[in-house]
Amino acid sequence: MHFSCRFLLPAASIAGTLNHQKLTSQAFLLLCLMKKYDFLVIGSGIAGLTYALKVAEYGSVCIITKASEDESNTKYAQGGVAAVWDFDQDSYRKHIADTLDAGDGLCDKRIVEIVVKEGPERVREVIDWGAKFDKNEEGEYDLGREGGHSEHRVLHHKDNTGFEIESALLRQIARHPNIELHTHYFAIDLITQHHLGQEVTRRTKNIECYGVYVLNTLTKKTETILAKITLLATGGAGHAYRNTTNPIIATGDGISMFYRAKGKVMNMEFYQFHPTALYNPGEHPSYLITEAIRGFGAVLKTSDGKEFMQKYDKRKSLAPRDIVARAIDNEMKKRGDDFVYLDCRHLDKKKFKAHFPNIYEKCKSIGIDVFKDMIPVVPAAHYLCGGIMTDELGRTSIKNIYACGECACTGLHGANRLASNSLLEAMVFSHRAYLEAIKAIGKLPFKKGIPDWNAEGTVNPEEMVLITFTRLEVQNIMSNYVGIVRSNLRLRRAFKRLELIYRETEELYQRTIVSPELCELRNLINIGYLIIVSSLERKESRGLNFNTDFPKKLSEAKNTIL
Ligand code: FAD
Ligand code: SIN
Repeated sequence: MHFSCRFLLPAASIAGTLNHQKLTSQAFLLLCLMKKYDFLVIGSGIAGLTYALKVAEYGSVCIITKASEDESNTKYAQGGVAAVWDFDQDSYRKHIADTLDAGDGLCDKRIVEIVVKEGPERVREVIDWGAKFDKNEEGEYDLGREGGHSEHRVLHHKDNTGFEIESALLRQIARHPNIELHTHYFAIDLITQHHLGQEVTRRTKNIECYGVYVLNTLTKKTETILAKITLLATGGAGHAYRNTTNPIIATGDGISMFYRAKGKVMNMEFYQFHPTALYNPGEHPSYLITEAIRGFGAVLKTSDGKEFMQKYDKRKSLAPRDIVARAIDNEMKKRGDDFVYLDCRHLDKKKFKAHFPNIYEKCKSIGIDVFKDMIPVVPAAHYLCGGIMTDELGRTSIKNIYACGECACTGLHGANRLASNSLLEAMVFSHRAYLEAIKAIGKLPFKKGIPDWNAEGTVNPEEMVLITFTRLEVQNIMSNYVGIVRSNLRLRRAFKRLELIYRETEELYQRTIVSPELCELRNLINIGYLIIVSSLERKESRGLNFNTDFPKKLSEAKNTIL
């Protein structure tokens, strides 16, 4: 039987189509250009790298990553890693309580306990791998504080913790004989029974993954990578929105591939907006001003120099992110302002410069002296709390695929993530997925008869600008109608607009040679669809999903599973 390797979706309706896939018949079968590994890791951020280092003791490992080896959300993490460290002052109980409180009643308590209690051991591992966290004059780790935390518990490396961790992990990866790391390899689609000609729907049980089709963006060739076990560690999707703190790689590829392969995703409506991205028109992605600065004493103010957070929460500028971002949004709308201010002028200069050297320099580079001027800040899309539904071992609804890090939804964050809990979550679940994967690997064969990618009948895009403009359209729809404050009218309008774009893009995809730009566009449309539909399903305001038509919280908290 000859089938296309592409997931082609009929172009009639976005709602129907994302639930079905169509197979074309003019494919040709090629059994060449195939690579085989025991473990395939898609993504080279903290989740993918920590997992790879561990499974590499048990078999061959291939890491693919779509840009340079370190480009990832991980690289830009500023504040640090939250973990209970000072047991005299802090406790698991307090970290658990803070996480549950931020999550607004939707966290999975069992998962929260796992992450908080196993977290410190995982942090120690990263330290052993060479990541250095700042210490105080007494030689103890200098613990920072961020919004929603009742204690100082954030380990950090100045204001570029992520870069420090990413660099340490990559040094270890480079030394490991069992690991190959392929940069500029763009994962296009997961390979399942669909590619063997079987019908796979959302009702199909026992969907299996055999590997992935990838595009080498340097040679422009598509390749097939077969693997016994695949880990999705593809990170977030900030570029579904116009303004985001995420680097350009964050386009939700892993979640979209997984959903196209008929896997289950959860809680996609909860997109976290970071309250304080630097307001610097024209700069994309937005530069983050870490929440740790508020933990250090900086205060939010409106343009008239007045504090406002006391009107919204007793924790003021250090309330959880959903509350602070909504408060800023409200103040900006009321006053017709484009930003609010973060006031650091009263802070200790020497300590500030030592702790936040990059932020100090960044502000200086655009003419802001943080000790004389207030920093203009605005909320920006930052973190996807939902994602690929996983269990406590990182397993997903598709066999042989595990997921961890930002692309996964473990139940830790509920309706709103507590600051600095995501690096921790990625480490804890990459470890758990590793333990499970090495148990499963022995019994798994490589799948035979997988056809190569079929590009028959496709041509180069007539106009690349069609793709870039459409991406901007998607970002505008999401930012204008599916942002911090939502309503049914806005969500339905967004759905209709996106449906049209979806149809046009699927038509383009069917006749065009595959490119990263086109794949990312499809993926972003898919992410937008999942966020909108999940938000429409939630008939309440909870955490990050604030809907003016349902301002109250329902008594029973439920996950949204698509
Ligand atoms: P990432 O680090 O984003 O890695 C994803 C990888 O997947 C990348 O290598 C990417 O290239 C690759 N990839 C994606 N799609 C494809 C594809 N189609 N094919 C091949 N490869 C692909 N969290 C904290 O806990 N503390 C903080 O202080 C903190 N600060 C942050 C500051 C900023 C500016 C940002 C953006 C995030 C911050 N976060 C923080 C969140 C945290 O950094 C991320 O959630 C976390 O690093 C995600 O790790 P990850 O490994 O899941 O994904
Ligand atoms: C920050 O440093 O403010 C970001 C922390 C996070 O996203 O967890």
